[in-house]
Amino acid sequence: MRFSVAHPIPYQGSKRRLATAILSYIPANQCSRLVEPFAGSAAITLASATENIFSSYVIADALHSLVGLWNMIINDPASVADEYSSLWHRERDKPIEAYYEIRAEFNVDRSPVKLLYLLARCVKNAVRFNPSGEFNQSPDKRRKGTNPRLMRDELFAAHRVLAGRTQAIHGDFMSLVEAAKEGDFFYLDPPYQGTSGGKDQRYISGVTRERTIEALTILNDKKIPFILSYDGSCGDKNYGDPLDESLAIQVLLDVGRSTQATLNGRNDVTIESLYISHFIPVISDIKRINHSLDDYARQLSLFSFI
Ligand SMILES: C[S@@+](CC[C@H](N)C(=O)[O-])C[C@H]1O[C@@H](n2cnc3c(N)ncnc32)[C@H](O)[C@@H]1O
Repeated sequence: MRFSVAHPIPYQGSKRRLATAILSYIPANQCSRLVEPFAGSAAITLASATENIFSSYVIADALHSLVGLWNMIINDPASVADEYSSLWHRERDKPIEAYYEIRAEFNVDRSPVKLLYLLARCVKNAVRFNPSGEFNQSPDKRRKGTNPRLMRDELFAAHRVLAGRTQAIHGDFMSLVEAAKEGDFFYLDPPYQGTSGGKDQRYISGVTRERTIEALTILNDKKIPFILSYDGSCGDKNYGDPLDESLAIQVLLDVGRSTQATLNGRNDVTIESLYISHFIPVISDIKRINHSLDDYARQLSLFSFI
């Protein structure tokens, strides 16, 4: 990336690496507010706010403690940094054992900063819940989690770009879609169809294809532009069926080798699919095109000389 973007919450599924590519589809000066209803680590909001693309931002998610964490980052990053540091040091005195203690406490008190600590310390930075809604991901035994000094820098850097212009809201994505108004731009990143039901209970809740289609239909009826991250594939594994072209235009991004494939010694290439709203004027005549992240890096280095 040509600019440095804060990213305080380590989160599996973060769109941090794709932010430059995704931002290149957001037209300048079309909309005033970015709404991210499946925010997670809010990589796209943070990148857009760093670039001052919108004048205000909405970060929303169904995971209550995560939204609490965003509210604290926006309003009081010092408390988050202090509490994170004491949790992290607590585990230095009792490695691994303290992780399990903090996890058990989180499952009772749902403390936002304990969630940050667990995300920073757990395997693959991945939220995982059991059927009773308890966080059950194991600690990563090879790493210690983000150092508190670095975490403090990241928290304050995120605070600086978000404070005074960002709202964090807890709830189901559909309520935001229904409340969408002129001037809004939506970036939607629902859980993959293949990873939220059955045994792989990645996120707090799943989102059906039907509800995704319903949301896009509402946004289209209201002429609200959006970008949706959806499906994707890794090697010969596909996640989900494509959506109809009448809803939005599909663009495929070649993201390169996945970390998992690299670890397993395979050469699988990950393809991310974006759906670009018909209400984004600049690219309305794009059909199916393929891009690699290298293309974006090249394009952006050209732009930065203009
Ligand atoms: C793929 S992740 C988003 C990752 C994000 N783009 C980032 O950069 O970190 C999907 C998010 O949707 C949230 N989620 C799941 N079901 C939801 C729902 N019904 N409404 C709102 N958020 C939901 C999950 O808690 C999770 O944080």
